[in-house]
Amino acid sequence: MKSRTKSIGILTSGGDCPGLNAAIRGVAKAAMHYGIQVLGIQDGFRGLVENRVIPLDSRSVSGLLVAGGTLLGTSRDKPHKMRMGQEVMDMTEVAVTNMRGMNIDCLVCLGGNGTQKNALRIRNAAEDIGVITLPKTIDNDVVGTDVTFGFDSAMRIATEAVDRLHTTATSHHRIIVCEIMGHDAGWLALGAGIAGGADVILIPEVPYDLEVVAQHLVNRRKGGKRFSIIAVAEGVRSKVEAAAAAAELEAGNGKKKKKHEEVFDSVSQQGVLLVQEPVASQIARQLQTLTGVEARVTSLGHVQRGGQPTAYDRLLATRLGTKAGTLLAEGVYDVMVAVQGDHAVPVPLKDVAGKKRLVPPDHPWLEAARLVETCLGDVL
Ligand code: F6P
Repeated sequence: MKSRTKSIGILTSGGDCPGLNAAIRGVAKAAMHYGIQVLGIQDGFRGLVENRVIPLDSRSVSGLLVAGGTLLGTSRDKPHKMRMGQEVMDMTEVAVTNMRGMNIDCLVCLGGNGTQKNALRIRNAAEDIGVITLPKTIDNDVVGTDVTFGFDSAMRIATEAVDRLHTTATSHHRIIVCEIMGHDAGWLALGAGIAGGADVILIPEVPYDLEVVAQHLVNRRKGGKRFSIIAVAEGVRSKVEAAAAAAELEAGNGKKKKKHEEVFDSVSQQGVLLVQEPVASQIARQLQTLTGVEARVTSLGHVQRGGQPTAYDRLLATRLGTKAGTLLAEGVYDVMVAVQGDHAVPVPLKDVAGKKRLVPPDHPWLEAARLVETCLGDVL
């Protein structure tokens, strides 16, 4: 097949995750197969604005399949709101001019929800240059795809952590609260919590009541189980917090605030800035008080994003990356390459950007968790 695309730029944007390098390799190798020239843009959209580009050839992408992180580097910078020295500026036009200077026909962006939005913004600013995106994030919250790459690797790490916490919690007859990443979505905590056999799983989509959780822990103790593991998604909200946030939205007070923004606001009103206490610590402290059982906290943090991708993520990233290469050769642009069932398929980027895939209330994982007597913090 004669390729319709002659030259592409690839960038990785947002938080890194295992599988990014495998995806870069997949896109690059497939593109090269079709005779497409491949440029690597460093550190996401910042590198695009600052014109930091490296040519990629088959040697530079070999050996990448198993490597964690991203060869290209990444950043959370947005082209339309970029910090430049002391100012925050709209650098979209600079990004477009630089892409034209590189003679690229299409920009391939590997990233999560923010990246999907930024890629569409760039596309809308440059009629003559297409974009293709790949869904990457440990949060698994991108719409249009069954799963994102990075999620399986992070779930494996979090599951192993929950497994390990079991033995020490059992020895000491403790409650251990384990905080798991996921931003506003509960996929990672739910998946790892079920796979690791957590006794309680708290996720943002199911607001919790700590009295319910405490009662569940007391019942377990009465039944002879003297330890408990609680998997907590970092974005969780209590029923009270969820109701307050909903009322704010209802009252038309604009965009839902992130939890850390609320803490920052309230603390700064008193003129003091404090580092926010991890949500798992707050929950552990309250549960210790409510149950009288000693509690400990483990926050997995960026460990979940480090190291080698699982076989599943290597395969998924390679499937999506190589499909992107084929779409480039066919001249299909302005799509995200998604996985749906057995197939890698293009979905219009405009249908994906700006949306978030949260755990629906009727999701079978929730039902499975309840049926193995896991408390989800809402009802006993
Ligand atoms: O989006 C991926 C993610 O790891 C989230 O789960 C987490 O909330 C966030 O990134 C952490 O971001 P950073 O690496 O910028 O601290």
